[in-house]
Amino acid sequence: MAEQSQNTHRTVYMDYNATTPLRQEVKEEMIKDLELFANASSLHEAGRKARFRIEEARASVAKLVSANDPDNIIFTSGGSESNNTVFATMFHLGRKGKRRGIVTSQIEHPCVLNAAMWLKDEGFPVTFLGVDEYGRIRMDELEKAVGPDTLLVSVMAANNEIGTIQDMAAIGKIAKGAGAWFHSDATQAAGKVPVNVDSWGVDYLTLSCHKLYGPKGIGGLYIRKKAPVEPLIRGGHQEHGHRAGTYNNQGIYGFGLAAELAFNELADYNKNVGALRSRLKDAILNTVPKAKINGHPEAVLPNTLNVSFPGAEGEAILLSLDLEGIRVSTGSACASGSLDPSHVLLAIGLGPELAHGSIRFSLGRDTSTGDVDYVASKIAPVIARLRAMSTVEF
Ligand SMILES: Cc1ncc(COP(=O)(O)O)c(C=O)c1O
Repeated sequence: MAEQSQNTHRTVYMDYNATTPLRQEVKEEMIKDLELFANASSLHEAGRKARFRIEEARASVAKLVSANDPDNIIFTSGGSESNNTVFATMFHLGRKGKRRGIVTSQIEHPCVLNAAMWLKDEGFPVTFLGVDEYGRIRMDELEKAVGPDTLLVSVMAANNEIGTIQDMAAIGKIAKGAGAWFHSDATQAAGKVPVNVDSWGVDYLTLSCHKLYGPKGIGGLYIRKKAPVEPLIRGGHQEHGHRAGTYNNQGIYGFGLAAELAFNELADYNKNVGALRSRLKDAILNTVPKAKINGHPEAVLPNTLNVSFPGAEGEAILLSLDLEGIRVSTGSACASGSLDPSHVLLAIGLGPELAHGSIRFSLGRDTSTGDVDYVASKIAPVIARLRAMSTVEF
């Protein structure tokens, strides 16, 4: 994209954690493969061809998370379904067995939090671990929370709002040391940072394709061999009987290619997007007095910058930036439209006012230096104007 003057109006999408655009190569591949319409469970040649491509895609998704056996991946409709499959499995196990304790964190995505709340309502003992000021699990608290009664430990690999990355291997060690099943929602981590199911020690790992430049409505669940699964959707024996329903051929092909590209480009993505994030962070800190960066200073996704602007209100900032062509988010996309402050920002210790005045900038592979400079040039005047109208002391 040709560099433009900072003040020329442009449209800048900085909401890649909500969703990403379908990349051109993936779109072309999906269109090309539209002719592979056959039911991939059919035994005739057309069915076998469709199935072959599905298995290729499965291998690419397995590679993205360093899983040795592609058969450990099942395709689902997305991150929400994968997470719910794990919690539904625990419901069935816990009803019959002695272990019933569920340990998760306060900063999980609502699809984990609400699934955990469901188990709590069903009488399971559920612990929602707090986090430190950077959004990291405190290992001593985790150790205290898990024990011989713990059935599941579920901790997200990277947070969608503040980008903080957890020490997965350390958490896995504690979970597995107690004999619990270990699940991680890696929806935001996959394609942005290395994911390794073996060094993390996970039994289950959740993936969603639309966060990595692939289509929506398709996701995956890694299931370690011999880990139990109770299907959410019963029917035919697709996906080893773990998830029934005719294969979503095009979605799966798109996921396969998106995963392959993300895996191959991981180092470049980190370098390029990480540099742009630093540039935006420095520009904001240099031009907006009292701006505060949320999330871990180092263990953070290379694309995610969450900033509190005391004295300005998040929705007002979002709408003011939107008028300038800049698409950002306050809190999680699922929570937008709600006036409640972000549960993640409250969990890291922000007061309701600061939590209300926070913006998530999430950058992506299409973000340019010009985009960052344009956004940086608009923030300071927007915040100054909103602060001038505010009655809040800060
Ligand atoms: C951390 C996390 N988990 C799960 C989801 C839900 O994924 P999906 O939209 O594929 O259901 C999201 C989406 O925002 C997410 O960020």
